[in-house]
Amino acid sequence: MAASLGCGVPTAVAELHDGETVLDLGSGGGADVLISARRVSPNGKAIGLDMTDEMLELARANAAHAGVGNVEFVKGYIEDVPLDTGTVDVVISNCVINLAADKTKVAREVARVLKPGGRFAVSDVIADPDMDAATKADMAAWTGCIAGALTEAEFERALTDAGLVDIQIMQTHRVHEHAASAIIRARKPEADA
Ligand SMILES: C[S@@+](CC[C@H](N)C(=O)[O-])C[C@H]1O[C@@H](n2cnc3c(N)ncnc32)[C@H](O)[C@@H]1O
Repeated sequence: MAASLGCGVPTAVAELHDGETVLDLGSGGGADVLISARRVSPNGKAIGLDMTDEMLELARANAAHAGVGNVEFVKGYIEDVPLDTGTVDVVISNCVINLAADKTKVAREVARVLKPGGRFAVSDVIADPDMDAATKADMAAWTGCIAGALTEAEFERALTDAGLVDIQIMQTHRVHEHAASAIIRARKPEADA
């Protein structure tokens, strides 16, 4: 299996249970999808969403090689998730939200696809409030997941505006002079207000 390109271990912080449906935003080679699929089996399933055919093919090959059947890999953008409203128990993601051009759209899509009471547990890069303009505009830093990153306050605002609650952002380790990897958790309220 190709190595994970993530910045953390979202599957370690998402409590997954048999029967649940898990969605991995930007699933890449599918490593976190396979781990999740095993943890929600035999009755649950894990869905990987990615925008590139190459990664979807790699992920499907990895799932077949691992003999994991309760997985599905779908093509699409995390800003426009091709899943029905209220169908997912847990959204995970490993170092992908920072790559999205419109993070508020991603947060709204997360809130839409989650079931009431559903959980969000991701690893991502968080920018320091003092990240300078040169770093923000640096394309090498962008592909390294640094330049596009939100600050803690911006991330929290995007999740709150989308309707998510119980937001926790825990920085885990430094990945750049101006950025850290973090675990971000939130929950969709049980019922719409
Ligand atoms: C840094 S890799 C992380 C892959 C995987 N999560 C892991 O931990 O190994 C980013 C992945 O997200 C996908 N991706 C990036 N932006 C995306 C977007 N806006 N919508 C869907 N997939 C996206 C890329 O195709 C790539 O497979």
